[in-house]
Amino acid sequence: AYRAGLLRFDDEGRAVHDSDGLLVVGPDATGAQVVRAAGSYAALAGNFPGVAIEHLPGRLIAPGFIDLHVHFPQTDVIGSPAEGLLPWLENYTFPHEAQFAQDLHAQEMAEVFLDELQRHGVTTALTFCSSHPASVDALMGAAERRGLRLIAGKVLQDRHSPDGVRDDTEQSLIDTEKLIRSWHGRGRLGYAITPRFAPSCSEAQLRGAGELAARYPDVWIQSHVAENRDEILWARELFPASRSYLSVYQDFGLMRPRAIYAHCIHFDDEDRALMRDTGAAAAVCPTSNLFLGSGFFDYEGADRVGFRYGLASDVGGGTSFSPFHTMLAAYYVGREGQTKPGLSLTPGQLWWQHTAGAAQALGLDGVVGNLQPGCEADFLVLDPQATPLLARRTGHARTLDELLFAMIVLGDDRVVERVHIAAGT
Ligand code: GUN
Ligand code: FE
Repeated sequence: AYRAGLLRFDDEGRAVHDSDGLLVVGPDATGAQVVRAAGSYAALAGNFPGVAIEHLPGRLIAPGFIDLHVHFPQTDVIGSPAEGLLPWLENYTFPHEAQFAQDLHAQEMAEVFLDELQRHGVTTALTFCSSHPASVDALMGAAERRGLRLIAGKVLQDRHSPDGVRDDTEQSLIDTEKLIRSWHGRGRLGYAITPRFAPSCSEAQLRGAGELAARYPDVWIQSHVAENRDEILWARELFPASRSYLSVYQDFGLMRPRAIYAHCIHFDDEDRALMRDTGAAAAVCPTSNLFLGSGFFDYEGADRVGFRYGLASDVGGGTSFSPFHTMLAAYYVGREGQTKPGLSLTPGQLWWQHTAGAAQALGLDGVVGNLQPGCEADFLVLDPQATPLLARRTGHARTLDELLFAMIVLGDDRVVERVHIAAGT
């Protein structure tokens, strides 16, 4: 058990704070570490006589962050300057991903990537691998050894892709099914069927992906949509029969719960309604969208129509693995196009989008992203005094909002003092 400040979320997504809290974790019937109790120290301490309590004065315990969209083979692509998405893919991303044909490189980079996630307090990620099936084996194997909850998939891209990353239609689908059978549901691992984006996939590949998605309904789906104006024009040219870029995915059976679409920027209300009605969710990638000049996610539009979303780094289009940097960028993005008075997004809402809200988008609410009883014990010990300026700022924070905002604006991996993974380490 741990005595410290506690941050968790109620069923309505509101942040709940215990300034002097108690978190009790222990094995469930299967031996996995789960939260037994979380709440105020004064109310709970008497219920656990004889349980050793570690006191962490001045610290805040919070759920591990969830990154809803990140590219494992783009770890070394961060900060590559380009005019926009399509030149960035061609000049930097595809050449880097081609290197993952070498197993040794993929294995080395899997450790680098997972080190970065964990160092920044990310304990669950929905991840693109490269088009090489062995890149999935490398990442899944490394995550399994660390006991991390990870969802990943081999990218599908059988056209408009250079040699070295382009895959073969039929083989790519055979490989995907093999990887599902090897990895999905093994320990804490999950598989995601991963068409890169409609322009890089033939109709036959998309159709095959949709068939697999129907055959394996608890497997995830991940792709990109409506990120950039040039990309959208291209998608519409390639799929003239579909109502919109997003509807291409619907037309191939790729919209359902557990389908996560990155970006979702240039949507109309019919697209938003399609997201809502199919139970798909958006991965909002603000640092990537600002860096590549893609545009601004419309939070008011999403809430007006009512589809699910959560936050993501989109490394390497995104500029940082840090959830603090992503939350700050999301705040800037929420300001853009804001029509309602007040804050665009409160710090509690930003934090929820990167934890409990992201878990809900994945269909993993009650499993990760929160500290409610029964949740897997993936949690962080945060130090609100990690840097001199942060210590000054949080030292005179009067409310939870002020404390969280100071960490969002001034925080980074130095704030993450300890990362506790349910599986043990
Ligand atoms: N669209 C297709 N591929 C990619 C990618 O790797 N990153 C981003 N941000 N958008 C994409
Ligand atoms: Fe991406």
